[in-house]
Amino acid sequence: MGTMTLTGKGRRWLLGGHPWIYADDVADGEGTPGELVPVFAPQGESLGWALFSAKSKIALRMVTRAEEQPNREFWLARVQRAINARAKLGLMDPAGACRLVSGDAEGLPGLVVDRYGTALVLQTGTQGADRMRDFLVELLLEALPFEASVVLDRSDVSVRRLEGLEPRVELLRGAIEGPLEVQEQGGLVYAVDIEHGHKTGAYLDMRDNRVRAAAAVAGGGRVLDAFAYDGLFGIRAALAGAEDVLCLEQNAAACERILENARRSGVEGRVRVERVDCMKDLRARADAEERYDLAIVDPPAFARNKRERAGAERGYVELNRRAMALLPQGGLLVSASCSHATGRRDFSSYLASAARVSGRDAFLEALTGAAPDHPVRLGLPESEYLKCAFVRMG
Ligand SMILES: C[S@@+](CC[C@H](N)C(=O)[O-])C[C@H]1O[C@@H](n2cnc3c(N)ncnc32)[C@H](O)[C@@H]1O
Repeated sequence: MGTMTLTGKGRRWLLGGHPWIYADDVADGEGTPGELVPVFAPQGESLGWALFSAKSKIALRMVTRAEEQPNREFWLARVQRAINARAKLGLMDPAGACRLVSGDAEGLPGLVVDRYGTALVLQTGTQGADRMRDFLVELLLEALPFEASVVLDRSDVSVRRLEGLEPRVELLRGAIEGPLEVQEQGGLVYAVDIEHGHKTGAYLDMRDNRVRAAAAVAGGGRVLDAFAYDGLFGIRAALAGAEDVLCLEQNAAACERILENARRSGVEGRVRVERVDCMKDLRARADAEERYDLAIVDPPAFARNKRERAGAERGYVELNRRAMALLPQGGLLVSASCSHATGRRDFSSYLASAARVSGRDAFLEALTGAAPDHPVRLGLPESEYLKCAFVRMG
């Protein structure tokens, strides 16, 4: 078994609460890729156990600060803790969907597991999670309160490259016969393509933000859902009472799913779809003086790292300026950013710039994050990524 000894700086960093150790902060040690290794301070005191990556800049991801080696019981308790948290959130209805395991944010480094009905879709992003995959899946199946019909490994995420890992897609259990159906409270019914859809198939992190946005048009209204993916913001709004919902999306398969999801949810007469480039299309709609009571803009990440921040700032300001032009006084802008490199403060300052260049007053009613089955680990700011602003136009 390998062992790792940290530098003094590495020890202080770890004791400061961050669970990642960078390769430069490892003074000495050896381990095989993905191995669970004991971690020591320069003077030899035990600092706990971590998963080792031989390739990444993040050499160690702490699993426990305890001296004892994690055994099967330890890992089962970790998996059980994640499932129990979802049960307490009321998210374990077998017809619904939720994120079951949120990786480093809840002590299972590198592993994400989403549940769609009784199907599990997982992604491993590190050497450690890859090495432990089959063992952790066995524990998950043991801990789940129902039989999993499908287990799909959709580890086709680009972050794997940082760990020297190839993309991998592997069906570990069951058979996939077309899209899966998910039912959420309030009559939202939607199809999920777990094989080809974005992420593991859907953006589960927006669940609560969709409900909050929809409340704005409970008494009726016109809605624009830009960067709609499978249309769940717009369909939620139609279910709440909006009379006319226009979803804009450039991905052809997603556009088809929007109509299919509107039909499954019983609001097909009130949801339209246009396959367009939103950046250009929003400007044309503003020029045509279209107006909406609620506009949602939820683009893909504009900044994937700190180097891309300046370009991202320009992108967010311009996009939100165009969206604001479509909203009359009293209209609500729901604007999201899933860029890791864009912090909460940055994002609200970009929205302020958009309001300023628009010559409008704007009021931030709420700045939320992801739904609670995507927790942020305190001490690991890297686990916070989603910002969703609710801005009332003056
Ligand atoms: C973050 S996802 C949206 C998630 C969605 N709002 C939801 O709640 O599930 C971003 C979407 O924008 C689409 N997209 C990216 N660039 C686009 C563009 N220029 N015009 C239109 N759609 C775009 C992607 O295909 C993707 O579906």
